[in-house]
Amino acid sequence: MRIPMIAGNWKMNTTVSEAMALVKEMRPGLDRIDNVDKVICPPFVSLSAVKELLKGSSIKLGAQDLYFEEKGAYTGEISPLMLAELCQLVIIGHSERRQYFNETVELVDKKVKAAFKAGLKPILCIGETLKENEAGKTEEVLAKQLSLTASQAYNAGLVLAYEPIWAIGTGRAATGQQANQTIGFIRRHISQQCSREIAQAVRILYGGSVTAANIAEFINQPEIDGALVGGASLKTSQFLSIVEQTSSFKRGK
Ligand code: PGA
Repeated sequence: MRIPMIAGNWKMNTTVSEAMALVKEMRPGLDRIDNVDKVICPPFVSLSAVKELLKGSSIKLGAQDLYFEEKGAYTGEISPLMLAELCQLVIIGHSERRQYFNETVELVDKKVKAAFKAGLKPILCIGETLKENEAGKTEEVLAKQLSLTASQAYNAGLVLAYEPIWAIGTGRAATGQQANQTIGFIRRHISQQCSREIAQAVRILYGGSVTAANIAEFINQPEIDGALVGGASLKTSQFLSIVEQTSSFKRGK
């Protein structure tokens, strides 16, 4: 049984005081929902304050990125060791980082390994552009993005997020069926690369314009284990509803 996960990626939104206010608003409702791993990923500068606010809560805290070195002369970067004191998870390889900050498959893999070494669980994002999708290259692109991900990472609890780039922040989500089909491919690919057991155990989330209005479409699909939510994770009523619907659906299964 794969436990569903709903992770909120706040991206570059909220000041520290805004993040604190949002967490205070969300915490009581989220704490009442079980059967789902609930994760919020605020900006780095808010992690410490949010950690304090989440004491005794079932909500898990994640960062949005890290650097792969433990310490040293890397001005502006944040190391896995720094994050390990503050949170449990970390988003790695988000398409915005691959696109705007030129993150390569090799760099992303170094970050995944560094996260595990520090005791952090990575949420590794993969996904194709619209152009790649239209050229029928989705599977090829995803396979390349996973080419360095080894069995050890899956066994250690790596979470994958399939986020078609054309669906992120555009209001144009994939259909549940499309996402299920592609996530089914990812599972088959992992089965070939690693093993059937590993492929069946890995949690794979869908991401891209998920809202309270369309989450049911995704969570009803057999291959999809939850969602990585951007915009809608900044609105308490939306995020609570997404988590609540996921919990009820999985409870009824
Ligand atoms: P979105 O972002 O829900 O705003 O489309 C998803 C993501 O980038 O993780």
